[in-house]
Amino acid sequence: MNTTALVGAQWGDEGKGKIIDILAQKADYVVRATGGSNAGHTVVEGGKTYKLHLIPSGILYPDTVNIIGNGVVLDPKVVLEEIDELSALGVKFDKLVIDLRAHVVLPYHKELDELAEKSKGKDAIGTTKRGIGPCYSDKTDRIGIRMIDFIDPEVFAQKLKSNLEFKNKIITKVYGGKPLDYKSMLDEYNGYAKRLKGFCADTGVMLYDAVKSGKRVIFEGAQGTLLDLDSGTYPFVTSSHPITGGFCAGAGVGPTAIKECLGIAKSYTTRVGAGPFPTELDDEVGKHLLNVGHEFGTTTGRARRCGWLDAVILRLAVRINGLTSLAINKLDTLTGLKKLKIATHYVKDGKTVNDFPADISLLDGCMPVYEEYDGWTEDISGVRSFDELPIAAKNYIYAIEKLCGCRVSIVGVGPDRDQSIFR
Ligand code: GDP
Ligand code: IMO
Ligand code: MG
Repeated sequence: MNTTALVGAQWGDEGKGKIIDILAQKADYVVRATGGSNAGHTVVEGGKTYKLHLIPSGILYPDTVNIIGNGVVLDPKVVLEEIDELSALGVKFDKLVIDLRAHVVLPYHKELDELAEKSKGKDAIGTTKRGIGPCYSDKTDRIGIRMIDFIDPEVFAQKLKSNLEFKNKIITKVYGGKPLDYKSMLDEYNGYAKRLKGFCADTGVMLYDAVKSGKRVIFEGAQGTLLDLDSGTYPFVTSSHPITGGFCAGAGVGPTAIKECLGIAKSYTTRVGAGPFPTELDDEVGKHLLNVGHEFGTTTGRARRCGWLDAVILRLAVRINGLTSLAINKLDTLTGLKKLKIATHYVKDGKTVNDFPADISLLDGCMPVYEEYDGWTEDISGVRSFDELPIAAKNYIYAIEKLCGCRVSIVGVGPDRDQSIFR
């Protein structure tokens, strides 16, 4: 199949960057459709590590067109820093294209993200403070500034002036903060706009033609299903739709443009930030997953919360994203654990909960019910074919397939591009 969506099946950081980079080898286009610089995607190639926030994960292939779609909220400063850092490493950007409809993250979005989190106190969401929520709020409030406005100095000056006047009132009068200066922001961001103008185009039209002519297109997910604004653990979610349905709106394509939907999951579960996490572990196994799995955020450096794999969550991901198969990363992190567990369902007040509830307060006192599996001790990081995996590792993958009703097509056994098993 020529067009594939790669979507996070848990709470983000499932190793999407690695799989996208591998599949991009054979892709003509890689498209980021949602989120912003809250994402942190790691690509490891020949021992070199690249950390990408806004730049699509197909950027290491010079012939692949990398698109930042209309559904992305683009921080001009961050994207230019990324371009400069990667250019210094020899990465080429002549095939990077940014959609004219993408909304622009400005300093007041980041300031308001920070102030809103602070004012929420113990109820804070634990955002990445990258201005994501405030920028998407402006978009739905129909006052956002898009790339097409940003690269026109007159339109940008006028829109920035009226927006900043309003935002400064909120910053000073609601939060008691300091107002941001119009002139210096205009000068600084006009400089960024000049540099970004040459990258801008109507990417929806490009993709329509690409799909129609049979080009190979990968839709790159950011965040994960449980962080989706509608289907996730609201309000502890991000402000976009990081699910395959969201990719259509965010890339400007129709649903029939996506043929395969590959869900990316880890062999256990992690989450950054606040909110419910039924299978979270606060014990030696949790420490093993944190330390052996190097579970520290790519964007904020925060330690990720770790726990057992949760089939309730994965079934939600299979259903909402229409998954045609799953990639299970980090199977190597489980090596050395004597017993492994997967939550099959939850129990609350004696009742069975099979589907992730809409009301997250129902998760209070909800007990995950686990199936237990044997672990393995062999180093699997060098294994390249499924048959060579220890029998216990194979059984663990078979159990995931059975519990989620979805085929596992890729197994990750290390961070490097070549440390993947294709079935
Ligand atoms: P993303 O946001 O989904 O792209 O994931 P991140 O890059 O934030 O986090 C995934 C981390 O796991 C990165 O450090 C990857 O290099 C690493 N990783 C990905 N796949 C594997 C794997 O199969 N084994 C191990 N040990 N690490 C992996
Ligand atoms: P990738 O693409 C993990 C989480 C934040 C917070 C919540 C809302 O690397 O998988 P936001 O800044 O979006 O308003 O924060 O969402 N979050 C992520 N967690 N991986 C990500 O991206 C994330 N992007 C946002 O930690 O809980
Ligand atoms: Mg990440």
